[in-house]
Amino acid sequence: MITERLPAHTPDSAAESIPRAAAIIRSGGLVAFPTETVYGLGANAFDAPALARIFEAKGRPTFDPLIVHIADRDDLARLFSEVTLADPRVALLADLFWPGPLTLVGAARTEVPGLVRAGLETVGVRLPRHETARALIRAAQTPIAAPSANRFGRLSPTSAEHVLEHLDGRIDAVLLGESTDIGVESSVVALDGRWPARLLRHGGIPLEDLEHALADHGGIVAAAPTARPGTPLQAPGMTESHYAPVVPLVLVAADFPPDVSECALLAPDRATLTDLEGRAAAAGATVHARVALSEALDPVAAAAHLFERLHELEAVLTRRAAPTARIIAAPYPEGGLGSAIADRLRRAAATPQ
Ligand code: TXA
Ligand code: MG
Repeated sequence: MITERLPAHTPDSAAESIPRAAAIIRSGGLVAFPTETVYGLGANAFDAPALARIFEAKGRPTFDPLIVHIADRDDLARLFSEVTLADPRVALLADLFWPGPLTLVGAARTEVPGLVRAGLETVGVRLPRHETARALIRAAQTPIAAPSANRFGRLSPTSAEHVLEHLDGRIDAVLLGESTDIGVESSVVALDGRWPARLLRHGGIPLEDLEHALADHGGIVAAAPTARPGTPLQAPGMTESHYAPVVPLVLVAADFPPDVSECALLAPDRATLTDLEGRAAAAGATVHARVALSEALDPVAAAAHLFERLHELEAVLTRRAAPTARIIAAPYPEGGLGSAIADRLRRAAATPQ
C-alpha cells in the first residue's frame, strides 16, 4: 500500500488536503493526523472493519481500547449513555478542559463498536484542540477513533516523520503538519459512575488541575499503573511496558548500572545531566549522546520534546553503538506535567528485555 502524503502545514494546504483525508476515512481507510498531544491514527469510530485495520496496522492487541475524537460537544450524545451524559462531572470537565488534552471515559451507548471499547462497557472520548484534527473530524462527519500513530508499544509520534517511520506503507494517508506542541498524550479520567473520579493515565492536563476542578464533586484519585496485559478488570492501556524505545531505557536514581559500557544520557535539566555524565565517566561508560530536556527544570518544554529526544537517542545508539547499549535516564520530578513525563519514563524503563 502507498501511503498518501497530504500537506496540512498551512491553512491553504489543509483546505485542499482535509477533504481528501475525510473521504478516505468515510470509505473505511486509515489517516494519521496531528493533534496537540501526539499524532493519531484515525478511522471512522462506527466502522468496525476500519477499526480492525487500526489494530492490524499498529500491531496493537485488541484488549487495548481506542479513544474516540469528536469536533463538537453535541457528538458526545452519540457515544456516552444517558447516565454518563447526566453525570455533572462530564459537563464540568468538558467546560474547563475541552478542547484540549483530556479524555473522558464513561458508559458507552450500545451502538459504539466493541473494538473501540475493547469489549468494555465504557468508551473514552476526547475533543482535541488542534485545528487540523477538528477540521478532519468535521469533514468526515463522524467521530474518529484514533490511538497514537505508532507501532504498538513503541515511542509515541510527535511529528509526521515519526508516523512514517512506523507506518509508511501500512496506512492510507498521513496529514503532514507541524510537530505536536504538548508532546505527551491526553490525561485519561474515568467517570464511569464511580466516585471519586479516577485518573487512568497522567497526561496533558495535570492531576492538580483535575483535583482543583473536582474538589466539590467527589475529587479524583490516581489509579496505579500496575496492570499487565491480559489482566482483567484493571484499566487497559496501563500496562507497564509501553512507550518503549527499541534501545532499552534504564532509569537511574543513584548508582550507574555497572554492566552498561555504551549509553546515551537523558536528564530533566542541565545540572542533573552534568551529574549523570560524571557518573557515566566514573563507571567507564562511553557516552554517545546526551540530552537535557530543558536547561532549568521546565516540564512544559520538556514534555514538548520528550518523545522526539527519545527518538533521537534511539537512532544514535542504533546506528553507532553495540546492541548492549542503553539509554540511561534520570527520573523526572513529579508534579504538574512532570508527572506525565515521569510516568512515560517509568513505562519505557519497564520494557521486557
Ligand atoms: O492524546 C491522546 O490521547 C492521543 C491522541 C491521538 O489523541 N491518543 C492516544 O491514544 O494516546 P492511545 O490509543 O495511544 O491511548 C489510549 C488509551 C488506552 O490505552 C487506555 O489507557 C485509555 O486510552 N482508554 C481508552 N478507552 C478507554 C476505556 N474505555 N477505559 C479505560 N481506558 C481507556
Ligand atoms: Mg499510544
